[in-house]
Amino acid sequence: MKIIITKDYEELSAKAFEVMKETVVSNPYAVLGLATGTTPLGLYRYMIEDYNSHGTSYAHIRTVNLDEYKGLSKDHPQSYAYFMRENLFRHLDIEASNTYIENGTAQDEQAECGRYNKLLEEMPRDIQLLGLGSNGHIAFNEPNTPFGSATHVVDLTENTIKDNARLFSDISDVPKKAFTMGIKQIMRAKQILILASSKNKADAVYNMVHGKVTEEVPASVLQLHPNCILIADREAASRL
Ligand code: GLP
Repeated sequence: MKIIITKDYEELSAKAFEVMKETVVSNPYAVLGLATGTTPLGLYRYMIEDYNSHGTSYAHIRTVNLDEYKGLSKDHPQSYAYFMRENLFRHLDIEASNTYIENGTAQDEQAECGRYNKLLEEMPRDIQLLGLGSNGHIAFNEPNTPFGSATHVVDLTENTIKDNARLFSDISDVPKKAFTMGIKQIMRAKQILILASSKNKADAVYNMVHGKVTEEVPASVLQLHPNCILIADREAASRL
């Protein structure tokens, strides 16, 4: 794992943007695996600024997202589909039909997971962006998810529900389940870019980088990826 430590969140976002821009410019038909959460927001801001000032085109880019809350429609303001549209897609020249995410309102969970697995097979990702849960989760793969997992529905842990409650008006509004891309599929991306910011990620960053590779810490699997970059700000990297 290549590790880049930055002085703050702004520099983290700028460095992440350099990696993402390189991917998009070197292959205008690239498939980007994208992530939600607050950590990638700075990177998305840089991508939008760059599109506005330099016209970097996303006209042929396709994206696949990691996860979606179960029960939320794509127009629900807390859904990840809405998040991606508002924070990135609607500001770029990307085709909405080239952006993929699980359908949170799918009635048949198995069929929806099957659909997404097939889609991921057909669209190998050039880069997979990841955030990091404070308990070491990646996407919504919570501790003890098998490394061989494909797309599945998870029961979110209390810890994750609490962490994500800050984005809802009340903790009782946070969905208890989500669809998530599996760990096996995350690992299939040609390159992985994982971002970690702030003090509450310090233990997870330490365990991911220096801990043993174990399903108890899903992000520790990234030690096995041949082309993974971690960009962490000083606080998140404080235990390294
Ligand atoms: C959620 C998402 C993850 C994300 C994590 C961290 O659980 N499913 O993909 O990495 O939150 O979020 P944040 O970047 O806001 O700390």
